[in-house]
Amino acid sequence: MAQRLTVIGTGYLGATHAACMAELGFEVLGIDVDADKIARLSAGELPFYEPGLEPILRRNLENGRLRFTTSYDEVAEFGDVHFICVGTPQKPGEYAADMTYVDDTITALAPRLTRACLVIGKSTVPVGTAERLARRLARLAPAGDLAELAWNPEFLREGFAVEDTLHPDRIVIGVESDRAEKVLREIYTPMTAEGIPLIVSDYPTAELVKVSANAFLATKISFINAMAEVCEAAHADVTKLSEALSHDDRIGGKFLGPGLGFGGGCLPKDIRAFMARAGELGVDQALSFLREVDAINIRRRIRMVDLARELLGGSFIGRTVGVLGAAFKPNSDDIRDSPALDVATTIRAQGGNVTVYDPQALDNARRAHPELAYGTSAQDAAAHAHVVLLLTEWREFRELDPDELGAVVAERNIVDGRNALDPERWRTAGWHYRALGRP
Ligand code: UDX
Repeated sequence: MAQRLTVIGTGYLGATHAACMAELGFEVLGIDVDADKIARLSAGELPFYEPGLEPILRRNLENGRLRFTTSYDEVAEFGDVHFICVGTPQKPGEYAADMTYVDDTITALAPRLTRACLVIGKSTVPVGTAERLARRLARLAPAGDLAELAWNPEFLREGFAVEDTLHPDRIVIGVESDRAEKVLREIYTPMTAEGIPLIVSDYPTAELVKVSANAFLATKISFINAMAEVCEAAHADVTKLSEALSHDDRIGGKFLGPGLGFGGGCLPKDIRAFMARAGELGVDQALSFLREVDAINIRRRIRMVDLARELLGGSFIGRTVGVLGAAFKPNSDDIRDSPALDVATTIRAQGGNVTVYDPQALDNARRAHPELAYGTSAQDAAAHAHVVLLLTEWREFRELDPDELGAVVAERNIVDGRNALDPERWRTAGWHYRALGRP
């Protein structure tokens, strides 16, 4: 393992990738334009919450295999292999992805590449990006052909980032030369030796695997949420329906959890960017179903607000609402496109007196939504509430005691936005329990 790796961009993806590659034995240098982030990482402190990652970060800082910098000169000098892990957020007011950070990376890195190296894109990008970047790299790098590009999408989930990075379901590489394939095969030897499949393809196929995987996952969630809409109308129970479907191996039970739907920094923006790109390629009809997937997902949030209002007799004005959850999903402090905060801010805008609690995401939520009130615990957020809404299914919320929570509220009304609670238990404790997609 001779390669020295650099990781460009130290967000959820990059910081995890850098620490995990060091854990595998590589010498790794991480870079970010955000000096504050680099200072925190260098001090062994994660700028975000990710279970299990901090000990790996600290261990590899201490053993000297992992370092961080803000200098591209240092990166170009150090690395045989450069991983691009910068973000590709949704452009404001558009469906398309903003490629500024990826393009800036090539602009900064390429002119400094004077010897043979491999630049490997991991960011989620519109199909065709790798081809375009390869041409720019060839034009800008003094090393010419010796500075090559490969694409290697990342499938990690927040909350399981370490597990997903060290033991992925599969490794996908898009390459244009045997040399690039050889370098990537060498890097991932510790994983392929464990039997993890490695799929070699061209650039566009590798790029598409990532977005089509996310499109499929989003579709699965919206499918079950569409069934939840039908179930509510037909007085059926979508949780039983989902359970029964999951026993069919062809369908499978994962990502079939009905509720408030998907959020986060990936699925929503990735399906929109995918639609935008399909439009550019002249095949927008092929992905028109994703528009419906998105619409079903947004309707869940509206239905949640409607259900809560219904329970309060038709208005939020003068009523107190306790919101459990701010992160877009449990085991994360990420609030990007969080369904929970979307519901909380909508209810506040409609006159409700809203207090939010989340085990990890409160700081981020406070910064993004200073207009909301925040509690210090589930009990605190639910104090004097006329209705409690469970919007992110943290374990501590699943394990709440209905009697204990019942003692602090004004009225025992709960809407379970994630189908995470046992209705019988809550009803027996005197709660009026409602859920999305259940009678
Ligand atoms: C996702 C992909 O899973 C990952 O492979 C990709 O690399 C990045 O995007 P992530 O955004 O971390 O990962 O979250 P994920 O666990 O996929 O959950 C996405 C959203 O779907 C969450 O809001 C979650 O609450 C919701 N979800 C998930 C459901 O509503 N129902 C389910 O059954 C599963």
